Amino acid sequence: MAGIKFFDPYPVFMKRAHGSRVWDVDGNEYVDYLMSYGALILGHGAMAVRESIESVMGSLGTTVFGTPTEGEVEYGTALRDIYHPGGSVRFTNSGLEATTLAVRLARAHTRKRRIAKFEGHYHGAVDRLLFSYSPDVAKAGDPESPVPIADSADVDKGLLSDSVALPFNDWEATERILMRNAKELACVILEPFEEGVIPGERRFMNNLRKLTRDLEIPLIFDEVKTGFRVRLGGATEFYSIVPDIACLGKIIGGGLPIGAVVGEANILVRLDPRRNQGTRVFHSGTFNGNPLSVSVGMATISALSKPGEFDLLRRRTERLKRGISAALDERGIPHRMAGEGGMFNAYLTSEPVRNYRDIKRSDLRLRHFLDLELITNGVYLKPENRYCLSLAHSDDDVSLTKERFAQSIDNVIASAPS
Ligand SMILES: Cc1ncc(COP(=O)(O)O)c(C=O)c1O
Repeated sequence: MAGIKFFDPYPVFMKRAHGSRVWDVDGNEYVDYLMSYGALILGHGAMAVRESIESVMGSLGTTVFGTPTEGEVEYGTALRDIYHPGGSVRFTNSGLEATTLAVRLARAHTRKRRIAKFEGHYHGAVDRLLFSYSPDVAKAGDPESPVPIADSADVDKGLLSDSVALPFNDWEATERILMRNAKELACVILEPFEEGVIPGERRFMNNLRKLTRDLEIPLIFDEVKTGFRVRLGGATEFYSIVPDIACLGKIIGGGLPIGAVVGEANILVRLDPRRNQGTRVFHSGTFNGNPLSVSVGMATISALSKPGEFDLLRRRTERLKRGISAALDERGIPHRMAGEGGMFNAYLTSEPVRNYRDIKRSDLRLRHFLDLELITNGVYLKPENRYCLSLAHSDDDVSLTKERFAQSIDNVIASAPS
């Protein structure tokens, strides 16, 4: 069992952080790879973030006005230029608000109801998208024709009847399902890298873009994990595919709450409050685009854009990824590594890992024990979750983690019943 903060047998309570390190309430020190689920790409308490917060307080004299600000326009323009040149942007306070808004825009734009999403993809704790994220495979139907399964007790049959589940990285099956439902589909939403790390295969991604364009179904990239992490321009840059709407969150606030929708101006124009009620999409939020979040976001882009910085992050991430893979190889543990840019994960299986059902076939139990052992040895990540690095992770951190990883697997092997 796991939730955002809970995992079996019990979660660790953290008390303090600095750079790549965190300390728990008992004073134990860890190299942190959770990095608040990837949100902290500059590390904990980065100087650029502190300075940005102080500068907002000093120059604006407040944390929020409830009015538009220059900072909001400046950051919105920067995001638009990276993710959808010529498009429009709207800020929210979280990733789930961004996906909610994107889906509402798509439904209003197409005047259709149904939403297609991929099995195993997460788009936030929002009713319309809380299906087939972590279904029981025994109940989820044929892998080529998955049945939408509610992830939360409140998601009723009415919502499910508007839901279409798709199999990631299976183009023939995806095409068949999309063609069958095309007349009713308001959008297709996906994590272009499942769990932030398993890439949509090139042919799959290109075909998906082409078919959704041909059928005039808005394509939504949920880049809440991949934005700024796979590349500065996220999966959009990685694939050179421009979705109709991209949803951003987490990292783009540099550690403060934020979300954003970036996309086609002719879709986002429905947010214009001057439009007729019948064609307008309602959107609100007291803290949307607040000065602190947009300023820290801007500082994050500036830090990541410094020559060589993102490459350094990528190289260190690759080094750790290779080290972990080598340690597993040396001990004969079958595995598949996945991930790009500043994050990766290891799936304990000898079979290719292309989607949710493949992940479910990997050895999640061994992985859980290994991650608990890592925590005991001073390497923190949420068990079974991905590794997220930051600009604060040093070569020494990587070397130390590799040593501790090797020691942790040896401990797990030694304690396994023979
Ligand atoms: C791909 C993706 N979309 C949406 C969300 C929801 O973001 P938030 O937790 O900020 O609401 C998450 C959160 O993990 C996510 O990973």
